[in-house]
Amino acid sequence: MHISSENSAVKNAPVPDLSDPHYFGAGDPHPVWARMRAEDRVHRQCPMGGKPEFWAATGYADVSRVLSRHGEFTASRGNILTTLGRTDIAGGKMLAVTDPPLHKRLKEPLVPHLGRQAVAAFEPRLRELSRRLLSLSARQDTWDFAAQAAFYPIAMAGLLLGIPEASWHRLKHFTYAAVAESDPDYAGTGDSRAAVLSRAHSEIFLHFHTELTRPGRADADDLIGALLRATTPHGEPLSHEEVLLNVYSLLIGATVTTSHAASAGLLALLENPDEHTHWLESGDTASLVEEILRWSSPANHALRHTTGEIRLNDTVIGAGSPVTAWLGSANRDESVFPDPFRFRVDRSPNRHIAFGVGAHRCVGAHLARLALTVLFEEIGRNFERVELAGEPRHLHSTFIAGVKSLPVRTVLRPEGAALRSFQPLGDTTGGAL
Ligand code: HEM
Repeated sequence: MHISSENSAVKNAPVPDLSDPHYFGAGDPHPVWARMRAEDRVHRQCPMGGKPEFWAATGYADVSRVLSRHGEFTASRGNILTTLGRTDIAGGKMLAVTDPPLHKRLKEPLVPHLGRQAVAAFEPRLRELSRRLLSLSARQDTWDFAAQAAFYPIAMAGLLLGIPEASWHRLKHFTYAAVAESDPDYAGTGDSRAAVLSRAHSEIFLHFHTELTRPGRADADDLIGALLRATTPHGEPLSHEEVLLNVYSLLIGATVTTSHAASAGLLALLENPDEHTHWLESGDTASLVEEILRWSSPANHALRHTTGEIRLNDTVIGAGSPVTAWLGSANRDESVFPDPFRFRVDRSPNRHIAFGVGAHRCVGAHLARLALTVLFEEIGRNFERVELAGEPRHLHSTFIAGVKSLPVRTVLRPEGAALRSFQPLGDTTGGAL
């Protein structure tokens, strides 16, 4: 998806099919979303090709309401558009697609491992991983930042879920395939979307099935250990399937979002050189990261179903209807963000909802913020200059707004020479795919 800098509302054009992943690979939804916010805030989308109808909320207040009022909107029938029209087998078992009270039981054990203080302990490892990510720059002038960044969160998830480096390459591939099964880089030749998804799921589940059944795994002080020790509201342990689904959810949640925020963030700096300079002069990377999150909104949408008939911004929506909440659009809502189409590294206040709102708000937000802060600190410290060296390519996905290729030319500062001693992240191989 292109991340537009201009509020050029497209007048009179029909709303494109927001359930078409290829639209987000080639098009820029921001002008369309701006028009929807102005004229059609709760839009009834009737996709082509016999796909089910759904509603699309684009304003900040409506998106926040859809995501946070679990009495009015259930997540248990699926939280992404690709599940529309079929039963989500993970409903009621996996955190992201479970309503309270079980939702609380699944989330509580994770929170202590992902709180601000707990994740602070990962900083030295994240710094080392960031240097590895950037280290190709010490070997070649031109390289693909996004291709390297794709490995960063899988390595980070490895710290939480015990993923060995030998498995990074393989799991990275299948994790991205699981959210972008229509993308030409993952779809392969002649494979149906269902086949790509099914292969991705089996590979990921097989990896973690083996991990979960290792003797003594429940005693480990990590996220897998916490889930293996968690109980249902009736005091029973979670089933093997429930633990597996939640580990899968953590892997997907951590991986596909964080890398895309990194690549979209660097692209935004390259397209806004004054802001790049301003950030370097101020040294305020925390503020930069918040603007990157608002600007890139890597989690593009979330899906819910109405539990009864409701009125959303004067539109009546029937019971059991699918409603999509477009976070990227909400984060450019003119009524909340002054000059929303300007990337401003010192934006304050910055009440973006890139991590969602309400009970399902991202459990990995502290870790994601830390990972991005460390990475951009390292970019600022090591690079004298960064320039675009080719056309960025965007992911074909309705769920993740992402930059999958970002060719850059980098010039190192003298201290950047030390990057040569780090092994590039993307060099690891986990066997043929
Ligand atoms: C820039 C990085 C990230 C972004 C933009 C992001 C975004 C989001 C959003 C918008 C939601 C709410 C979805 C909904 O309401 O249906 C969410 C939930 C979730 N995220 Fe993240 N996320 C990021 C990083 C992470 C990381 C690092 C982890 C794991 C350590 C993670 C794990 C999860 C999980 C497990 C959920 C489900 C929470 C629940 O249902 O209660 N995410 N994330």
